[in-house]
Amino acid sequence: KTPALIDRLQRPLRDLRISVTDRCNFRCVYCMPKESFGGGHQFMRRSELLSFEEIHRLASIFADQGVHKIRLTGGEPLLRERLELLVEKLAGIGKLELTMTTNGSLLTRKAQALRSAGLNRLTVSLDAIDDATFRAMNDVGFLVKDVLDGIEAASRAGFGPIKINMVVKRGLNDHAILPMARHFRGSGHILRFIEYMDVGASNGWRMDDVVSADEIVDKINTEFLLEPLPGNYVGEVARRWRYADGNGEIGVIASVTQAFCADCNRLRLSTDGKLFTCLFATQGHDLREMLRSGASDDAIASRIAAIWQAREDRYSEIRTAATVNLKKIEMSYIGG
Ligand code: GTP
Ligand code: 5AD
Ligand code: SF4
Ligand code: SF4
Repeated sequence: KTPALIDRLQRPLRDLRISVTDRCNFRCVYCMPKESFGGGHQFMRRSELLSFEEIHRLASIFADQGVHKIRLTGGEPLLRERLELLVEKLAGIGKLELTMTTNGSLLTRKAQALRSAGLNRLTVSLDAIDDATFRAMNDVGFLVKDVLDGIEAASRAGFGPIKINMVVKRGLNDHAILPMARHFRGSGHILRFIEYMDVGASNGWRMDDVVSADEIVDKINTEFLLEPLPGNYVGEVARRWRYADGNGEIGVIASVTQAFCADCNRLRLSTDGKLFTCLFATQGHDLREMLRSGASDDAIASRIAAIWQAREDRYSEIRTAATVNLKKIEMSYIGG
C-alpha cells in the first residue's frame, strides 16, 4: 500500500468528501439562500453528474492513495436516487470508513437501507429545537419533529452515536444554543456547534454574524459545567467537551476564530467531478474529463498525487475582509 501523499505544508491526504448532488430540499439562509437558489437557479444536468460507477472508480484510486474516510455530502445527498447503491459499491472497496452528512429530512425512509448497504456513521444537521427558529433557518417550513424522527430511525437502524451539526448565526438561532444543549444532553448523540463561515459567494457573510466557539462554550457553561476532552484523531475539526456530570459530550467547530488548516487532510470532489483542495477554493481540477476520455487508473492517480503535492491552501488562517469577497465555490456544489 502506498504511503499517504504529503502536501507542501506537510499534511497527509486522509479524507475525501464527495458531493453527490448540488440540489437540496432546504434553503438554509447560510448555505442556499433563496435569493440565489430560487426558481432561476440552474442546477446541474444529469449528464454532468459523476455516475456511481465513476465515483466508485475514483474512490478506489483514492483509497490506494491513502484516503481512509469518505464522507458523502451535497446538497442533500439523499436526494440522489438510490444512494444506497453507491454506498454498497463503496463498501465493497473494503478499507474505507463511510460517512454521510444529511439534513435528515429523508432519513426515516432511508436509514435502514443505508445501514444495510454498509454506511458506518451519520451526521445530521439541525439548527434549532423549536419550529419557528428552525423554519427561519431552513426557509422551507420544514419541521423539527421530522428531523428528530429521522435521527430516531437512524438510531434504530444501528447508527451509533449520531453527530448533530448546528450552524450558529447571530440573531437568528443563537438563542437556540442552550435549548439544543438541553435536548441532546444524555441522548447518546453528539451535538456540535459550528461557527458560521464565509463559504460561497452568496450568503452575505459578515464577521458580526459569527458567534465564536468561546462564546458558545461560555453560554453552555452558565448552565452545565463543561470539561475539555482530548481529540480523537489528528485533523479532527471539532474540539470536544464533556458534561462534567457525565451526560455526554459536545463539539465546537471553530473554523473562523480558531482555524484548523494546519492539520487539514481533506480533499473535496464536486458533483461534476472537480477536485477542490480547500472548502474556500475558487477553482477545481477536472477529473471527469480524464474519466470520460479513457485515462488509465495510473494516470488519474498521478494527477491526484500532483494536485495534493502542490497544495498549500490555508484559507481560514489568512481570511481577511478582502478574501471574503473572492468568487468562492458554493458549499452545496463542493460539499460541506
Ligand atoms: P467526523 O470527525 O468524521 O465525524 O467528521 P467531520 O466533523 O469532519 O465532518 P462534518 O461534515 O460533520 O464537518 C462538520 C462541519 O465542519 C462541516 O459542515 C463544515 O462546516 C466544517 N468543516 C469540515 N471540514 C472543514 C474544512 O476542511 N474546513 C473548514 N473551514 N470547515 C470544515
Ligand atoms: N457555515 C458553516 N457551516 C455551514 N454548513 C453549510 N453552510 C455553512 C456555513 N456557511 C454546514 C451545514 C451542514 C454541512 C453540510 O455544512 O450545517 O452541517
Ligand atoms: Fe441543504 Fe445542508 Fe445547505 Fe441546508 S446546509 S441548504 S440542508 S445542503
Ligand atoms: Fe482545510 Fe481550507 Fe478548511 Fe483550511 S479553510 S481547514 S485548508 S478546507
